[in-house]
Amino acid sequence: MESFYINGGRELNGSLDIVSAKNSLLPILAGCLISGKHVIVRRVAMFSDVKYMLKILEDLGCIVTTQGDTVIIDSSTAEKYLVKEEFTKKVRSSIFMLGPLLSRFRRAKVAYPGGCNIGNRPIDLHIKGLECLNVKIEEKHGYIYCDGRNMKSGEVHLDFPSVGATENLMMASVGLKGTTTIYNAAREPEIVDLQNFINAMGGKVYGAGSSTIVVEGVTLFTDVDYEPIRDRIVIGTYLVATAMCGGKVKLLDCKREHSHALITKLKQCGASVKESRSGLEISVKNRLKSIPNIETQPYPGFPTDLQNQVLALQTISRGTSIVVENLYESRFKICNELVKMGADIMVKDRTAIIKGVPKLYGANVVATDLRGGAGLVLAGLSAEGYTTIEDIYHIDRGYLSIEEDFCKLGAEIKRLQD
Ligand code: UD1
Repeated sequence: MESFYINGGRELNGSLDIVSAKNSLLPILAGCLISGKHVIVRRVAMFSDVKYMLKILEDLGCIVTTQGDTVIIDSSTAEKYLVKEEFTKKVRSSIFMLGPLLSRFRRAKVAYPGGCNIGNRPIDLHIKGLECLNVKIEEKHGYIYCDGRNMKSGEVHLDFPSVGATENLMMASVGLKGTTTIYNAAREPEIVDLQNFINAMGGKVYGAGSSTIVVEGVTLFTDVDYEPIRDRIVIGTYLVATAMCGGKVKLLDCKREHSHALITKLKQCGASVKESRSGLEISVKNRLKSIPNIETQPYPGFPTDLQNQVLALQTISRGTSIVVENLYESRFKICNELVKMGADIMVKDRTAIIKGVPKLYGANVVATDLRGGAGLVLAGLSAEGYTTIEDIYHIDRGYLSIEEDFCKLGAEIKRLQD
């Protein structure tokens, strides 16, 4: 078991490169199976979830070669359509294999997914959507059995704009004869990235980024060489870290395009955030004002994946803040840990009320999920004294050596082995 040991209270200054988006990489890697060709994916950050996804592809028969941060996947040799429980319990994104397996083999057998501990994460929208494409689905003995031998293109209206369900349906329908339309689709930038990837290998997908996506079936695919977008959640985490610690940080080659909701809030509370040709720069001199209310929403609303980090910022801002979590019912686990560090927070159902205190103090805390763990790192960096964060494997699922990035900016944070 590894932990972080932080000596807090230092300003952050300097510049950082930002990795490719985990939430783009995971569906794109699953999508490599569709074509039966060679796929080169560049700037691959080896998050632990990404490593599991590559293991799944290998287990299905793909040949995976890694050269630095480039991954080459030859899916022509894939022959299985079973994703075993040993993989799915480690990575929720294994559910992304349903669409590509159906597209390639017209069959899929995938064990129920595990993943981040943030409450009930059903997959009913994936299942209902695939049924609209005439896939026969049975759920038994912990496995989802999909028979797509009579699959047909068609219309799917999602009850909620689920990111994963939208991506699965895009990938499932890419090779179906005719046109498939997905209504009330999720609009996240990672969905646009998946569309661009599919089209680069010969697909015909239109409309991603809007709430209606149209997929025209194709049968011929080509080799593809693709670089996913930067990780807007990592960008947001580093912006909030600077807002908490003070200082001046530039995130190289990043744009504000996908981070509007956060940047607007940061500016409202007194941070300076500017975009230039070389990147996105945040500068913070004094303690910030509270953001009166933050409510998580599907994109382009405020992202749930940045809620815990911004909640940590509110604990040391001037004033009171109300945070409402609309997507995941268990995304306030960080609050108990922040209270150990001196925060004043009251949680009721999906609402947290945070009264800002002048500073947090170092304590022994535990990461209970990915983004909550990131929030604790930020709290520890800004706190007075020493903080130990246990169970940091959660954080490694979405941040590549977060401690090295913060050390580059002048923080004192070490990874300790137990
Ligand atoms: C993706 C992101 C995750 C982010 C989330 C919301 C990836 C790999 N992960 O997760 O980081 O937190 O979007 O922005 O891209 N739901 C159902 N039934 C379903 C599917 C979802 O009820 O079949 C509900 C979920 O419980 C949740 C909401 O819909 O309340 C959003 O889930 P969804 O958009 O599907 O998120 P993921 O794709 O799992």
